[in-house]
Amino acid sequence: MAKTISIAIDGPGGAGKSTIAKRLAKELGYYYVDTGAIYRTVAYFLDLLGISPKDVDGVERYIDELTIGIEYDEDGAQHMIMNGMDVSADIRTPDISMKASDVSAHKVVRDMLLDMQRDVAKKHNVIMDGRDIGTVVLPRAQVKIFLTASAEVRAKRRHMELQAKGKKDTYEQVLAELQKRDYQDSHREIAPLKQAKDAVVVDTSNLDIDGVVAAIRTIVQEKTAV
Ligand code: DC
Repeated sequence: MAKTISIAIDGPGGAGKSTIAKRLAKELGYYYVDTGAIYRTVAYFLDLLGISPKDVDGVERYIDELTIGIEYDEDGAQHMIMNGMDVSADIRTPDISMKASDVSAHKVVRDMLLDMQRDVAKKHNVIMDGRDIGTVVLPRAQVKIFLTASAEVRAKRRHMELQAKGKKDTYEQVLAELQKRDYQDSHREIAPLKQAKDAVVVDTSNLDIDGVVAAIRTIVQEKTAV
């Protein structure tokens, strides 16, 4: 099998990872894998069962009953399939964001998702975004980007997204939640959010989407000559 190319994009919530990764994947003809959506699906599944995402025993007891599928529509958008049901829209709430962060700290969950993520990268050229892609999931990725922005800028973007969906969360609530999640994701024991030593940092605070895509495209070209 020909060797595949992997591009890892890590960073905190709201830095623009998904938007950028999706655009680049389309341009390059790569698979796009939003790994946060996978953790969100686990959180949503447990939530429906009434299991607290912090309850290790509960998580361990029910996790085997979950089958996760990833599908793509004709626009390249990723759909999350939970035991046969498309839950892509249901997992995009502030409540599930926090629960995904809680649930992602458990070893049993991270172990289960690790092989799933690596399998995709073994078979296809991928742009994978998350928190631990360059450090743990794909440590040999040819390109590693650490995408970041100030907490205020990230909260402003998230707040606008939520407002566009008609949600009532205030900017202050969104900022507080993002900061709590940043802290939790960077301080957990297993695979915390951190910049890989060989990652290139791209700060998106003062760049628009086109600017970020252009900056990353240049890095990808340098590293892979595609
Ligand atoms: O990228 P996101 O906001 O959709 O991710 C939701 C949560 O999932 C995030 O707060 C932490 C967890 N996550 C993780 O632990 N590892 C990843 N590779 C991706 C997400």
